[in-house]
Amino acid sequence: MKVDVLLGLQWGDEGKGKIVDVLTPKYDIIARFQGGPNAGHTLEFEGIKHVLHTIPSGIFREGVINLIGNGVVIDPVIFKGELEKLAPFNLNIKDRLLISKKAHLILPTHRILDAASEAAKGKDKIGSTLKGIGPTYMDKTGRNGLRVGDIFSDNFMDKYKTLVSKHKDMLKRFEDFEYDLSELEQPWLNAIDELKELTAVDSEQYINDAMKSGKKILAEGAQGTMLDIDFGTYPFVTSSNTVTAGTCTGLGVAPTRIGNVIGIFKAYCTRVGSGPFPTELNDEVGEAIRKEGREFGATTGRPRRCGWIDLPALRYAIMINGATELSMMKADVLSGFETIKACTHYLIDGERYDYFPYDVNDKEVIPVYEEIQGWNEDLTQLDSYDNAPQALKDYVLYLEDKLEVPITVVSVGPDRTQTLSNKVMA
Ligand code: GDP
Ligand code: IMO
Ligand code: MG
Repeated sequence: MKVDVLLGLQWGDEGKGKIVDVLTPKYDIIARFQGGPNAGHTLEFEGIKHVLHTIPSGIFREGVINLIGNGVVIDPVIFKGELEKLAPFNLNIKDRLLISKKAHLILPTHRILDAASEAAKGKDKIGSTLKGIGPTYMDKTGRNGLRVGDIFSDNFMDKYKTLVSKHKDMLKRFEDFEYDLSELEQPWLNAIDELKELTAVDSEQYINDAMKSGKKILAEGAQGTMLDIDFGTYPFVTSSNTVTAGTCTGLGVAPTRIGNVIGIFKAYCTRVGSGPFPTELNDEVGEAIRKEGREFGATTGRPRRCGWIDLPALRYAIMINGATELSMMKADVLSGFETIKACTHYLIDGERYDYFPYDVNDKEVIPVYEEIQGWNEDLTQLDSYDNAPQALKDYVLYLEDKLEVPITVVSVGPDRTQTLSNKVMA
């Protein structure tokens, strides 16, 4: 069997958690391959809303293994908080949740360094989630990091102290930055003790053995393609590879073992944090989308920046990921807009760009739009795509034509049940 992948094609928060939960009954294993508690994946069913940060979104479905891969970074304190929230649901976490011994740990000093770095950047800050993601991946590539496997070793405390002392030296360079580590350290060490009680595995071996024995696996992306460390709007990105290739390195899956790649996008576009966003609307239309779409961050609560759909950016994301099918989210949010706009290309220095070029960061990017007829009908009660308003179907056909990949799922509300299947999925 091959590993299917579901990942975001925009700047994150596309609705990955919801669709992973919807698709989980078709799979035996759901695996996260990158990112960490910067992610906030929302699932809604039976009247309850859950937000997951580190734990894969298949955790609520019985009989499904959830795997946190080597490419993920884990903050034991946030992770413990997530587990406590799940406790009332009796999910048998010890059996259902597996953690890679090679996943890296976020230390309290990583979070402090993240905050110090952002403060020092001033108006040029990345707008990070302040979860310590950047500093943790820096220690990973700098070969200084601590991994889950280390917590079982006798000299773990020595390793921890060595790294903290390095961080303290680094923090000295941020002259005006004050911090207090004393209150953060003990809860972190307590959370490490709880982490030891869970099931740590050689996840790359586990996943390859599972593939061999015919298990169906879905890899769940975090963030989105436009936040990828290589292909996103650098430096306003996260610190991991959020694209399909990240599945290979973040789980130990060979490129030849990648199956379907499901790219997920909103019927419009949002971004949280700083950085270029060519189709951003700083007007009442953007405000209306934010209000209708409840566009506030699942992790930080920050208002999300809103704009129209950006086809050059989507085509670019589809290309980088090799997306084989698409899910369009939040179609219900656009109900009531007389016309919907889609950016077909950009003008930069008077030149036409149909793709997402390097220059978006430094130059003025003028989005050129095509107008599409909107719809007034409430979509949230629809039980089948056949019954959808023609204008929505026309929008979907228009996007399929421009993106050259089938849209197999149209989402019309946050609940598990508010999910319409457009074509029979493979
Ligand atoms: P993720 O990070 O990609 O998992 O997405 P988030 O959970 O951060 O943000 C998506 C938000 O949109 C959540 O609040 C979801 O409950 C909500 N949502 C998902 N799909 C839909 C949809 O089709 N319609 C509406 N109105 N909300 C949706
Ligand atoms: P999910 O998985 C949206 C953004 C931050 C910031 C940049 C870098 O829920 O889609 P970081 O903390 O990673 O160093 O922040 O990336 N960001 C996200 N935006 N959704 C996310 O995750 C994000 N994770 C990080 O806002 O701009
Ligand atoms: Mg999110």
